[in-house]
Amino acid sequence: MNNASIGVFDSGVGGISILKALQNEMPNEQFIYLADSHNAPYGSKDAASITALCQNNTEWLLSKGAKLIVVACNTATTNAIEALRDQYSCPFIGIEPAIKPAALSTKSGVVGVLATEGTLSSSLFHNTASMHTQNIKVIEKIGKGLVPLIEKGITSGLEIENLLHLFIDPMLDAQIDTLVLGCTHYTFLIPALKKMLPNSIQIIDGRDAVARQTQFILEKNKILASKEQQQSTVYYTTGNPKELQKFVSEDGCIEKVSITL
Ligand code: DGL
Repeated sequence: MNNASIGVFDSGVGGISILKALQNEMPNEQFIYLADSHNAPYGSKDAASITALCQNNTEWLLSKGAKLIVVACNTATTNAIEALRDQYSCPFIGIEPAIKPAALSTKSGVVGVLATEGTLSSSLFHNTASMHTQNIKVIEKIGKGLVPLIEKGITSGLEIENLLHLFIDPMLDAQIDTLVLGCTHYTFLIPALKKMLPNSIQIIDGRDAVARQTQFILEKNKILASKEQQQSTVYYTTGNPKELQKFVSEDGCIEKVSITL
């Protein structure tokens, strides 16, 4: 038993989509959410800069007593999780574009992946993709410009739809039947995407798999919280608390923190 908190970080608000899945799965855990919105987007940064930011976030969460860290960001996971696992002894759970389940379920044999430049150019993504996509066609698109809008709370409307059409239309032309959302921010675009995609297209984002894996690793390491503990979550951001508040359903206080490199 271990009643310490689970640390969860993302470059900004996107990881809230993962946090919600974790909260649904684990009613007895305490969570600390860190949005590094001051440094968003991570997706256009190089691997060394992303790794340095992730080390910073990790050290900050460990200083708050985190027993396990969920890297709730595909860009951070694909660029930095190996370095984090080498450097720190706590367990890390990451998220990568859900290319394996997409490859297993596609009927048309064509899958779309919408992700950041940092994720699509990472060797971890290339390795995973080449392992699972020998017999299928993958259409990769960088969702350039989406994250800054989502960080401002814009998840619908003409600006978002026009951008999405740029990425999604070529995928539709190529006959995808499965769309992988390879960035945790994009989960908030599912309603906008559903407006432009035929019902037959499946959208996969991997957040429930992260929650299940976190539960499994807590059990395996015997660090689950006791059944008497009530779930609670505290929120921190390096950016504007008002922007994070738009994505947080409860009224809890969001503290602004400065994490220096
Ligand atoms: N939410 C992040 C992801 O899953 C990245 C967004 C960004 O900072 O570019 O990739």
